[in-house]
Amino acid sequence: MQSCKYGLDELMELVDLFNVSTKNQAKIRALLAEEETQPDAGVFFRYYNPRSKTVEFERAFAARMGCRHALAVNSGTSALIASLVAAGIGPGDEVIVPAYTFFASVSAVVVSKAVPVIVDINDSLAISPEAIEKAITPKTKAIIVVHMLGLNCDMERIMEIARRHHLIVVEDTAQACGGQFHGKSLGTWGDFGCISLDAYKVIGTGEGGMILANDDFMFMRAQSYHDTAACWRPDRFGKERVEGELFCGENYRMCELEAAIGLAQLRKLDWIISTCRHYCDIFRNTVKLPEGVHWTKLNDADGICGYALPLSFDDQEFSLRAQKAKIVGGNALNTTRGARDWHMAWNWEHITELKTATSEGCPFKCPMVQDLKRYNKDSWPVTKDIIIRTGIVSISQFETETAILERAKALSEGLANC
Ligand SMILES: Cc1ncc(COP(=O)(O)O)c(C=O)c1O
Repeated sequence: MQSCKYGLDELMELVDLFNVSTKNQAKIRALLAEEETQPDAGVFFRYYNPRSKTVEFERAFAARMGCRHALAVNSGTSALIASLVAAGIGPGDEVIVPAYTFFASVSAVVVSKAVPVIVDINDSLAISPEAIEKAITPKTKAIIVVHMLGLNCDMERIMEIARRHHLIVVEDTAQACGGQFHGKSLGTWGDFGCISLDAYKVIGTGEGGMILANDDFMFMRAQSYHDTAACWRPDRFGKERVEGELFCGENYRMCELEAAIGLAQLRKLDWIISTCRHYCDIFRNTVKLPEGVHWTKLNDADGICGYALPLSFDDQEFSLRAQKAKIVGGNALNTTRGARDWHMAWNWEHITELKTATSEGCPFKCPMVQDLKRYNKDSWPVTKDIIIRTGIVSISQFETETAILERAKALSEGLANC
């Protein structure tokens, strides 16, 4: 007779998930079955739980990043939405986003009922500070900067612009967990940092995300939106303690199972980053670049995550040849996995064609929106040119140094003969 909700049977399913052989699974089951105390995971709920893995994960995350607060959520997308709502962004507000980012950054703006203003990147593959300045109007409330490919935006310039115009800064750090700009963790420069922990990110929990913040009030509002059941509150059903604390939200809570995986992953973050950066150095120091190609000038080359090292080609033709021949990766062919890629604004017909979930067209067709900026696939020629001329060298922490040296040699030869 089972005496708890999640016990040995559930634990053995997890062991199976990790691809442990049937023989060893039988041994583990037998070993645990004979223990006096049987496995018991409680109810997998983070609140009212002194052993919560989610709380432990958040504390370790905030400590590692060097910020006051970290809130675990169920995805990077929900981290962005909760941050925008927490910052008070809503109907009639404009939010500046780069034309090169995964579509989730811009979708989060629309879901938050604001309108996206999509601006160009510069040669560093990050949002252009000049383009931000040009796009600011009296309706602008926030900037979402995106640290694509584990690289970094120029956070000093962006924060200076934001302060001067009283704008909120949300750092979409989905792809750059563990990176820095001038020694300070990405995601801790702005008002909010949003990290994705999905399956393909630097560290992952299968699905998941983390919101980083320093401001107590805004963090409380992010908690409010992420758990409308209000389990996060000291007195769950108590009256509003401060104006702006209570409003209708979602359920974006992270599950204890994901947090447990996250704790183990977080402990590996330093190793992942230092290994990838070391491999970047090998590429930079050993690859012989022919005329017409150079390593992309980054905002802070020492602070990148290192799993992607970009190359800039002087002309599009050379870049296209190198990408077609698979000498380097990249988005020049307008495709990553065989489909039109949603990392580039010209493929976001949700935005260019104002597609919305209901026929009323909210938030685009809204009395609060007077001057809607309309886009088409040719609206970002600067970004398109940069993307076409960019080749990517992908790096994994699981490669050996010997393999990296061989790849560096092959890259020199490939580019020389391309
Ligand atoms: C730049 C960027 N922002 C946001 C997201 C969304 O993260 P998630 O998949 O965890 O919702 C992603 C995921 O690919 C991303 O690359």
